[in-house]
Amino acid sequence: MNRKFKIGDKVTVRDVPSLFHTRTQGYTRGHTGEIVGLRPEWVIPEDEAWGRYEGRREPFYMVRFKQRELWPDDGGAEIDMLETEFSESWLEPQFSEVPGTRFADARAGDNSVSDSHEHEDAHAPIEEAETSEFDILETAIRELCISKGLFSADDHRRFMEWYDHIGPMGGSRVVARAWADPQYKTRLLADSIAACKEVGVDWMQPTGQGTPSDFTWLVVCENTPQLHNVIVCTLCSCYPRPLLGPSPAWYERPSYRRRIVRWPRQVLAEFGLIVPPDTEVRVHDSNQKTRYMVLPMRPSGTDGWSEKRLTSIVTRDTMIGVAVPRIDWTTSSAPPGATRSA
Ligand SMILES: [Fe+2]
Repeated sequence: MNRKFKIGDKVTVRDVPSLFHTRTQGYTRGHTGEIVGLRPEWVIPEDEAWGRYEGRREPFYMVRFKQRELWPDDGGAEIDMLETEFSESWLEPQFSEVPGTRFADARAGDNSVSDSHEHEDAHAPIEEAETSEFDILETAIRELCISKGLFSADDHRRFMEWYDHIGPMGGSRVVARAWADPQYKTRLLADSIAACKEVGVDWMQPTGQGTPSDFTWLVVCENTPQLHNVIVCTLCSCYPRPLLGPSPAWYERPSYRRRIVRWPRQVLAEFGLIVPPDTEVRVHDSNQKTRYMVLPMRPSGTDGWSEKRLTSIVTRDTMIGVAVPRIDWTTSSAPPGATRSA
């Protein structure tokens, strides 16, 4: 595979009109970041969205941006970062270094390339109707498949019942084992999908192919005293479902998706999580093929705990990154003030 870029290269996201489908977010366009990860060649989403699974293939890259580069007027912390993924054709060498590139031309006043960042096509809608166009499309396709005999209504109901009960326990087991077994943690960070299998989570199931949006690539983001990770999908609601089950309603809402990439510390504070000023907040926007899960830090006071007991304090939100585990919090214990009705 011929690659245009390598780790450490400074790249600028192209700021060009996009017709139809793309997964390159408007807020990244025209901004410069650093390549921090190489991904394989995959079919680009501009083709894949139309079912052209044999379409154009390109190498993908993980790019890290400074929050202040993305949002210069918002006064974010100097140390905070955001990572997200691009196919190669969306990237150019940093514009200031290469005269004659589209960006150099754009900044020099070539109006053929828009320098504004208003790309309605790449943004999530601000207001979402109760029944979205996607819901209508899903119903139409499902009913068509049932009428053509591809699967039955009962097959679909059984799948959804199974899917709704996946829950975050798989992720909790992964984290607890990583806390208890340093060698497992090393394997987990090196090959996350293989390490998931060790605790019984197979990203290829139940279909044998996983789902197109879930099994391609998984990165486990390790929190440290110097780094706090949090995940989002600004375009829709991409989420590590085999590990965490269906995503919570707030994760899918524009108010979380749009704001966490721009004001991460403030949004985390709304969840009750105050990140120390000398800890970097790193947002991972799941815009393309990679899915993320946060590996939170093991809280003190858990020495000698069994793996099963450790699992009980690894809640869903700690693996999204909007909370951190505490020894007195479990998914099954009611929070203060909560009442249960019979
Ligand atoms: Fe998504």
